[in-house]
Amino acid sequence: MEGMRADNSTRRDDVQGVKLKLQRDPDLFLVSDERGEIVGVVMGPWDGRRGWINHLAVRRTRQRAGIGTALVRELERRLIKKGVEK
Ligand SMILES: CC(C)(COP(=O)(O)OP(=O)(O)OC[C@H]1O[C@@H](n2cnc3c(N)ncnc32)[C@H](O)[C@@H]1OP(=O)(O)O)[C@@H](O)C(=O)NCCC(=O)NCCS
Repeated sequence: MEGMRADNSTRRDDVQGVKLKLQRDPDLFLVSDERGEIVGVVMGPWDGRRGWINHLAVRRTRQRAGIGTALVRELERRLIKKGVEK
């Protein structure tokens, strides 16, 4: 298909691409919230077999406090639950 890469990933995540992923797998968009303030984010696209960890970021002032680790662990748990093999 035109514009589609063989590895099923996108070159960049434009707004439309993120909206589509959000519709399909809202549970794979994680946000770490502290008293109403977003301090960390990550999203985990998958193609039915493989999963990825994308756009992991933690607010600079809250880094090295385990937030990134917690986000990745939870995302991995959810990807595995969906059946992701690698
Ligand atoms: C990378 C990032 C997400 C880590 O989040 P975090 O909440 O600070 O990570 P954690 O506190 O869970 O750290 C886990 C371990 O990762 C490693 N680590 C984290 N930040 C590091 C850094 N700047 N340099 C070297 N090691 C680092 C350390 O081993 C750390 O364990 P330690 O603190 O016990 O030494 C965060 O620094 C960030 O948002 N960076 C900018 C964006 C980015 O690079 N995103 C990743 C690519 S999309």
